[in-house]
Amino acid sequence: MEQYIIKGGNPLVGEVDISGAKNAALAILAAAIMTDETVVVDNLPDVRDINVLLQAIEGIGAIVERVNRHCVKINASTISSTRVDYEYIRKIRASYYLLGALTGRFHEAQVALPGGCDIGTRPIDQHIKGFKALGVQVTIEHGMIMTNAEQLEGNHIYLDVVSVGATINVMLAAALADGATIIENAAKEPHVVDVANMLNSMGANIKGAGTDVIRIKGVKDLHKTEYSVIPDQIEAGTFMFAAAATNGNVLVKNVIPKHLEAITAKLLEIGCAIEEYDDAVRVIGTEQLKSTQVKTLPYPGYPTDMQPQIAVTLAISQGTSIVTESIFENRFKYIAELVRMGANIKVEGNTAIIEGVSHLTGAEINAPDLRAGAALVIAGLAAEGFTLIDDIVYIQRGYENFEGKLAGLGANIEKVTTEKDVQKFKLKVS
Ligand code: UD1
Repeated sequence: MEQYIIKGGNPLVGEVDISGAKNAALAILAAAIMTDETVVVDNLPDVRDINVLLQAIEGIGAIVERVNRHCVKINASTISSTRVDYEYIRKIRASYYLLGALTGRFHEAQVALPGGCDIGTRPIDQHIKGFKALGVQVTIEHGMIMTNAEQLEGNHIYLDVVSVGATINVMLAAALADGATIIENAAKEPHVVDVANMLNSMGANIKGAGTDVIRIKGVKDLHKTEYSVIPDQIEAGTFMFAAAATNGNVLVKNVIPKHLEAITAKLLEIGCAIEEYDDAVRVIGTEQLKSTQVKTLPYPGYPTDMQPQIAVTLAISQGTSIVTESIFENRFKYIAELVRMGANIKVEGNTAIIEGVSHLTGAEINAPDLRAGAALVIAGLAAEGFTLIDDIVYIQRGYENFEGKLAGLGANIEKVTTEKDVQKFKLKVS
């Protein structure tokens, strides 16, 4: 089993290149199977979730050609099955995008119910509500979710909760429906816009993505395209907080600064300096960080996927901070690990009350999920002494070469598999 060993205490200094957005790429790869023609998708992050989805797409008969580490060509004219029961697909949340894509194109699909990070119950009722409104029959049997329709008919759909997944899934199916669909109370995240742009480049007619109301005029067919995925807002934000927590100075490159506004606002509040460029952001840390309050919200609010990273940083900021998680109910599991590193945090319901401490100390800890895992790496980088992190498979789901990028900024971090590797690392850095 792979682990990260970290020796904390080095300020992160230098430049880091951000990869393509995992959550945009997952939906874009699903969209790529909605045409008989060849689709080229570039700027894909080389992470586990993407590679699992590509295998699932191959598994139903599409031809996937790797152009290079970050670029694939997909030809889905050869799809022979609409049943996706690949053993790993259940582990990724975004398996449900195949449901929207296959239902849009073939009017039927059978996809294993999604798993993903264990951060709450994560219902999919709004996806189902959206499909049903388009005239699709939806049933759940034996862990599979199945759709079937004579025809997809556009409709007016009001989402009861702002859901990224439901917005994108309905958009995928409605792109090839008869007539017009209006999605109200739509999610506005950058990746919703990216998927709409990609579908439009395939000939779809989608307007309003990025606002509360998305209007889709169904088209008969979609066609080939070449599309480059937007940069990953969450990967960028993770490096920005890593710079802050280690009193570093990092230029985070290949980003869209507008997508990072909620994150930069919080970094400024806690005392960091920020320099914004056209496609880069520099974060300059400070000796003594300050406390703040933050509540996770749908975009353009502060992202839930950045909640653990800010909490780790506030754990070593002076004063009392309050972090409120309003999107997922089970997203504080990492706090127990952070307390073992010396943090002073109490969780009451969906609120964490953080009394800043002067420093953390290294410990043996577990990554409970993707973003919390990355946040615990930040904790290890900021802590005194050695931190050993288990279950880094979660982190590898969403961060490309995380340890390599951090080492490039001067962090002492290595991926290890044996006790001998750990001892070797300790000798090397002592
Ligand atoms: C996506 C992201 C995830 C991110 C989340 C919120 C992917 C693959 N994952 O997840 O990293 O944390 O957006 O930005 O892109 N809900 C319902 N019914 C539904 C759907 C959602 O009640 O049918 C609720 C959820 O429980 C949650 C809220 O709506 O409380 C938002 O969830 P949603 O935006 O759908 O998250 P995901 O698409 O699963």
